Amino acid sequence: MTVLPEFPLPRAAGCPFDPPPALREMQQAGPLARVRLADGSTPWLVTRYDDQRAVLADSRVSADIERPGYPLGAPRPPSGGPKIGFILMDDPEHARLRRMVTGSFAVKRVEAMRPAVQRIVDERIDQLLAGPRPVDLVEAFALPVPSLVICDLLGVPYTDHDFFQQNSRTIIRRTALPADRTAAMQALNLYLDDLMGRKLAEPADDLLSQLAGRVHNGELTRQDAAQIGVLLLIAGHETTANMIALGTLALLENPAQLKVLRDSDDPRLVASAVEELLRYLHITHNGRRRVAIEDLEVGGQLIRAGEGLIVANDIGNRDPSAFEDPDRLDLARNARHHVAFGFGVHQCVGQPLARMELQVVYGTLYRRLPDLRLAVDADRISFKHDGAVYGVYELPVTF
Ligand code: HEM
Repeated sequence: MTVLPEFPLPRAAGCPFDPPPALREMQQAGPLARVRLADGSTPWLVTRYDDQRAVLADSRVSADIERPGYPLGAPRPPSGGPKIGFILMDDPEHARLRRMVTGSFAVKRVEAMRPAVQRIVDERIDQLLAGPRPVDLVEAFALPVPSLVICDLLGVPYTDHDFFQQNSRTIIRRTALPADRTAAMQALNLYLDDLMGRKLAEPADDLLSQLAGRVHNGELTRQDAAQIGVLLLIAGHETTANMIALGTLALLENPAQLKVLRDSDDPRLVASAVEELLRYLHITHNGRRRVAIEDLEVGGQLIRAGEGLIVANDIGNRDPSAFEDPDRLDLARNARHHVAFGFGVHQCVGQPLARMELQVVYGTLYRRLPDLRLAVDADRISFKHDGAVYGVYELPVTF
């Protein structure tokens, strides 16, 4: 009997930016492989770029966590318990709820926020310059910047950041106890429900108030509105924060690339650096989870209805058929077709915002702190191997 590899797979020691080597071997060996999850289930792993996009665009696969065969790999959350917005739902309900927020993330709307984001970034750098050194860049910069931005957009008081950051961390930590995760979900749902009540009574100029307006009109239930708020609050700060800190570390470890970025005043280079770092680092490293609801063929392999699929976009972003010399960080390359934001109907709704924030950060931080460097040896940095989002726990730097 063949022993199947346990998923998630370990990264190689000393190669914190590269996907696990076993993923590359599987990609070379064939389009699909079976893996084993902690609960003993054995879903298919999709490793090649073209197959990944085909699966994620296929209406015969479902993202509904409650369907039998969904490759969760852990005890199922209680049915009817608190949900995280529409990310784990299927169309048409997914599309209906998603439509309620897409306008707020349209490129034009996001561009109008750029000066405010620039101000937030500049103020935080002023504080870094005035404060003690060394400093943890995660705590002092990478986490506050996207948290301040999403709070502004949603209309969530930033003074509550300890509360929502801590609960978000529990929800996305793979090793969190199921009871702790459910409690964190409940806490955030109650918090957003309370905020929704306040926005219903006193609407302001923010996204939660717009959702409250839809509750008022009967387009949305108050519960759905609160759950969308939870999703946007979590997705809006955790991912971008990890991209800021891990991206900075990757650049510090690739000084020639950092110099290219720092020395250029071309916004197109900054934009392409953002795409390349998204591709190269691929922080949502536990794969897009799906279950087949009808028989379908992927890469010549028949997948039966009810079988689980994990689309490993981290190795898709390193597929040589889609990116030349894929393991090289090359800020000038065109990497915009990467799958760091997923693909298909669930493709990241916040991507214009994430892109703009990262452009402001990467285009500002290293110019204003030209001597930025690690304050500890690189091998002392600890990485988030146990979370749905990869990154560093702390990044001690000086400048
Ligand atoms: C660098 C930052 C980010 C990365 C790498 C990222 C990545 C992703 C990925 C891979 C998905 C697809 C999930 C799937 O197919 O199962 C996704 C979905 C989503 N993201 Fe992001 N994201 C980022 C920033 C943001 C921001 C700033 C927001 C805004 C609040 C956001 C909101 C969402 C939402 C609401 C979904 C669910 C979309 C749906 O199911 O239709 N994300 N994100």
